[in-house]
Amino acid sequence: MLKELKAGEKVCQAVIIRLQKVGNSSNGGVFAKGMAEDNSGRIQFIAFEKGIVNTLRNLEGPQPMMVAGAVDIVKYSQDMALQIIIQKLDPVVPADDISNLLPMGNFDKDAYLDKFNSLIGQVKTPSLHQLLMRIFSEPFLSAFLKNPAGMKMHHAYSGGLLKHTVDVAELALAMAHTVGNVDKDLVLTGALLHDIGKVKEISAAVGFPYTTEGRLLGHISISALLVKKAADEIKLPLNQLQWLEHIILSHHGEQDKGSPIACATKESFLVHYADEVNAVMNQFEDQEKHHTWVFNRMLQRYLFLD
Ligand SMILES: [Fe+2]
Ligand SMILES: [Fe+2]
Repeated sequence: MLKELKAGEKVCQAVIIRLQKVGNSSNGGVFAKGMAEDNSGRIQFIAFEKGIVNTLRNLEGPQPMMVAGAVDIVKYSQDMALQIIIQKLDPVVPADDISNLLPMGNFDKDAYLDKFNSLIGQVKTPSLHQLLMRIFSEPFLSAFLKNPAGMKMHHAYSGGLLKHTVDVAELALAMAHTVGNVDKDLVLTGALLHDIGKVKEISAAVGFPYTTEGRLLGHISISALLVKKAADEIKLPLNQLQWLEHIILSHHGEQDKGSPIACATKESFLVHYADEVNAVMNQFEDQEKHHTWVFNRMLQRYLFLD
């Protein structure tokens, strides 16, 4: 983390690079300087090595990069400001850890992981439990745990999909208890799986861009395809699969809200309403604005944030 760096230390991590100046130094060499940023803060950087200066010069705007270098006090600085002297600079590749660049949700991820595991454990129908264990296994599980649930509209932070999924499952289960005479295992399985396609729809990279697969298929179809694939592998009985697919395909409620089919079972209505309640309540979560009316783009109205 940039905030914790001290003079004399080495640094090697992902940062957002913002180039400010490229110039010639008094000894005839070149230099480039600017700001390096991560979730914790920002720090100046400078580079003298020709290849690195060229890489920096060719960046189109602020970019995530892997940087290695030494931390030093800026020469002639009044306030003992620190800077990174860049010794190595590479583009970010998928294997790199860039979690320090992504917005982090203000929630206890470990507590949510416990809740998630306990919800899976509550599904007692063996075939549905087996399906969940099959889908939530590596490497998919790790991707699911760090994905956002939205780009901007809701849960747009690392781990947002986990939080949204757990909250929807708990809300749907609570409603199922009150309503009575519904298949709770089906509600729970449907709720836990309803948005899994977002793992492939929205990339967990900086900016949470949509993937090509996401743009072409959308998360509702992708979720249904992932469930179908795993169901075939474990030979889930067709009637269970279809009732589950219905929950996933209808979770936006109506066809004009993006679902290919409107809710037609009690279980599908419960997951849909839980999803809607959670997405709407999330619009009230703003860490900066309090006791004020703010226009909300998703709901197209002013909301009072307390
Ligand atoms: Fe969804
Ligand atoms: Fe959802």
